[in-house]
Amino acid sequence: MDIPTIDFPNSDKEFIDNPYPYMKELRETSPIHYDTFSGLNLITKFEDVKSVQTSKTFSSSDPEEIKASDEKVSQREEYQYFWRTEEFSLLNLEGQLHGDLRGLVAKAFSNRQVQELRPFMEKKSNELLSSVNPDRFDLLKDYAQPYSVSVIGALLGVPKEQYDNFLYWSNCIVKMYDLKISKEDADEAEQAAKDFYYYITGLIEEKSKNPQNDMISRLSVVTENNQKLTVDQIVCTVILLLNAGHEATVNTIGNSMVALNNNNINTKGLNKKFEIKDVIEELIRWDSPLQFFQRWVTEDTELAGFKLEKNSKVAILLGSANRDEDAFNQAESINFERSNYGHTSFGGGVHFCLGAHLARLELEVSFLNLFKHEIRLLEKPERTGAFGIRGFKEVIVSI
Ligand code: HEM
Repeated sequence: MDIPTIDFPNSDKEFIDNPYPYMKELRETSPIHYDTFSGLNLITKFEDVKSVQTSKTFSSSDPEEIKASDEKVSQREEYQYFWRTEEFSLLNLEGQLHGDLRGLVAKAFSNRQVQELRPFMEKKSNELLSSVNPDRFDLLKDYAQPYSVSVIGALLGVPKEQYDNFLYWSNCIVKMYDLKISKEDADEAEQAAKDFYYYITGLIEEKSKNPQNDMISRLSVVTENNQKLTVDQIVCTVILLLNAGHEATVNTIGNSMVALNNNNINTKGLNKKFEIKDVIEELIRWDSPLQFFQRWVTEDTELAGFKLEKNSKVAILLGSANRDEDAFNQAESINFERSNYGHTSFGGGVHFCLGAHLARLELEVSFLNLFKHEIRLLEKPERTGAFGIRGFKEVIVSI
């Protein structure tokens, strides 16, 4: 049986506003669809997404023959700094190198070190919320972004004066991860990657001479079996942590508060009615801030009754998997008393989100503070237009 072919409406406004009815239709028609534009086989069902995440037949690294192809070589030349910052990104590695690097990074990013940040998070969250105009403010620009950037900045040990640059660099770079990108955005991402690369290299040099109690310093000295991270590995890791560390968290705060408003759920005192952890997990499931990740097929295989050829590519649709009725009862509804919160928003398998403990704590502190108020949407918020990283341009609210 052939995989049905579709033209995924990646940039269609109606789809971006609410992709879930279309993805439900996809799930009901076939577990896999082939998108002609991106050349990706889209995996729509929860169980299949889980299988891809945990199987060695699906890899996050480019196969050697693809790396050597003319198209990839010329892309690497044109966007050399972008690729340089990606070379040792955990997201793109597999096997021994991934395991070794992930082990070293995890050692410098323990749960204890994250929990120690709680008082800092509480202070920052209070400060920001008490300085907004309660009658009208942008939940993203005035609260979520400065909150999240200062947390990851403090953890890594990045000077405050650089936070605006980080926001800008990271916003530019993450556009490269969507299914379609314009030449203009790609050029801007390359320039941002270059500036980011040189800045971080300098910072690492400074910290290796004068180590502090922060993660960049720890990454410079951490060892396992006499192995240390190289400078390029640290640069890629720091950039990954900064990008991954705020985009998804900021969008989760925005998506969640909009979801509560649109579903007529009063935010005030919500934590007294339900466990805060359940509220967080359900909101991340319901509108996942990261909608898809790609994998290469490493050998001819079969998934959900379809044949997938070696060196073809799949995209696991996390947001679709999280709305799969076969995995979640009444998946379309928000329910803070589910028996199953095993969503895929933090991924699964060897690439499971390394910052999930930090994200969960940041969200807990934030939501506990936000739920002291009745947050009201003052305007219908507009989506950024991207599918992969799902968020809003602004979320104008009163509290
Ligand atoms: C709500 C917030 C977040 C969400 C939904 C999220 C989601 C994810 C997902 C789905 C993956 C797996 C990607 C794949 O399968 O290829 C991932 C990986 C990763 N995330 Fe997160 N993330 C969040 C916050 C964070 C934070 C705060 C950090 C760190 C500061 C972080 C660091 C990472 C890293 C380093 C990886 C790569 C792990 C690997 O490939 O071994 N994330 N994240």
